[in-house]
Amino acid sequence: MNELNRRQWLRTAGLAGALATLGGFRNVEIPGESRPAALVNGAARMNFNENPYGPSKKVRQAMIDHFDEVCRYPFSFQRELLSRIAAKHGVPEDHVIITAGSTEGLRISGLIHGMDEREVITAELTFFALSDYAGKVGGIIHKVPLDNALQHDLNAMSAKINSNTSLVFICNPNNPTGALLPKDQLWDFAKSHAKQATMFIDEAYFDYITEPGYPSAVELVKEGHNVIVSRTFSKVYGLAGIRVGYLIAQPELIDKMEGLSMCGPNVLSIFAALEAMSDQEFYEFSLQKNAHNKNRIYTTLNQIGLPYQESHGNFVFFKTGKPIGEVQRAFEARGVLVGRPFPPMLDWCRVSTGTDEQTLKFAGALREVLG
Ligand SMILES: Cc1ncc(COP(=O)(O)O)c(C=O)c1O
Repeated sequence: MNELNRRQWLRTAGLAGALATLGGFRNVEIPGESRPAALVNGAARMNFNENPYGPSKKVRQAMIDHFDEVCRYPFSFQRELLSRIAAKHGVPEDHVIITAGSTEGLRISGLIHGMDEREVITAELTFFALSDYAGKVGGIIHKVPLDNALQHDLNAMSAKINSNTSLVFICNPNNPTGALLPKDQLWDFAKSHAKQATMFIDEAYFDYITEPGYPSAVELVKEGHNVIVSRTFSKVYGLAGIRVGYLIAQPELIDKMEGLSMCGPNVLSIFAALEAMSDQEFYEFSLQKNAHNKNRIYTTLNQIGLPYQESHGNFVFFKTGKPIGEVQRAFEARGVLVGRPFPPMLDWCRVSTGTDEQTLKFAGALREVLG
């Protein structure tokens, strides 16, 4: 092997090793490639709201092309991603912090707002990364039940706000229900309470919203309100394993959070995210596949007669009428992994949209288990 070939081989082998640690190469159907969709390790992994079609071919190539840069610290490359994100949302760069997945951003926000026994208000059934962290640093957490439509109960949340409240967490669309708040309700709520407490709007699933013209809560940040918006590359961009997300908020808060960040993005995640933002073909492909397979899940649920919530995410929350642990085990025995218990709705199940093949496998298992 000559020196050039050896270096090329090491580069490819090194990246393969790195990617194997992050979840491995997968045999998936990606725009521009003819490889068929396949199951991962035999099981259809439909339990973590990931995009099974990622990473795109172009993102994969971008990571390979920049692999030799991993001897550098990320700072030298971070600026480019920061300015791309700021430009996308029409905000100055000092309104953005890039984090290691949006979870890091959720945790920093939980830390700042939970310290000193401050109070955080959240729904009873939602994503808990922020409120759990706030609770661990001494915050007092109020969990407000969803209303009868499985929607955030904004009136009840409003009634909980007091002078010690530091943050209200709203996941829109919500995980695990997939519900989207009517824009006017959310805007009125956020505007009328943002002087009392920080309004945190988690938009991890924003790209999947099909309601035409539904705005991002970044608009509220631009109007100067005390609002934090979180976004992630883990969902539609198919990059859950590379860990990159960001927050948009007022610059004073971003500055405070910069000082508390413990990780931030790494070099490969920066180049992956930059490429993902340009790869419109894969973005459209992922949305189209998600819509198609979500419809497939709805159709099967309709045929069996199981109630479900219309979802604005890459998952469907449906009523099984049986204990979730039992349902999970029955699916697992048929090679399908579905979501975990979501108290207090312990006879409901969350399934993430899979590839075409995985979703068909799920539909078959659903008929056997609950049909
Ligand atoms: C609502 C919501 N927010 C944030 C996250 C965390 O995503 P990540 O840390 O990968 O950006 C998830 C993950 O499933 C989620 O469902």
